[in-house]
Amino acid sequence: MGWSPSSAIRTYFAKHDLSGKNVALFFTLGNNPRGAVDKTKKLIPNSIVVGELVLVKPSSNKDETKKKIYEWCATLKS
Ligand SMILES: Cc1cc2nc3c(=O)[nH]c(=O)nc-3n(C[C@H](O)[C@H](O)[C@H](O)COP(=O)(O)O)c2cc1C
Repeated sequence: MGWSPSSAIRTYFAKHDLSGKNVALFFTLGNNPRGAVDKTKKLIPNSIVVGELVLVKPSSNKDETKKKIYEWCATLKS
């Protein structure tokens, strides 16, 4: 189903207890994320979401995408 976490992500969350863990969410999409972020967060209600990055059409501007990822990673380290 569109704009929903993939079965691989659902399986990962089902097999790994991420309760109380810091989780950084990273999305790539071809369009507006709609409810994708919230749907994903609902699967890990007991996790601490320390960051989220949504990249729409990341390949359309690779330099900009790289910059966003570097900057996001830096925020996660601090
Ligand atoms: C099987 C599959 C399902 C996808 N489903 C969605 C979707 O529901 N919503 C969306 O915005 N993009 C969807 N995409 C697009 C990809 O997530 C991809 O991140 C997007 O095309 C941007 O990457 P690009 O810039 O490299 O093309 C899907 C891609 C694949 C291969």
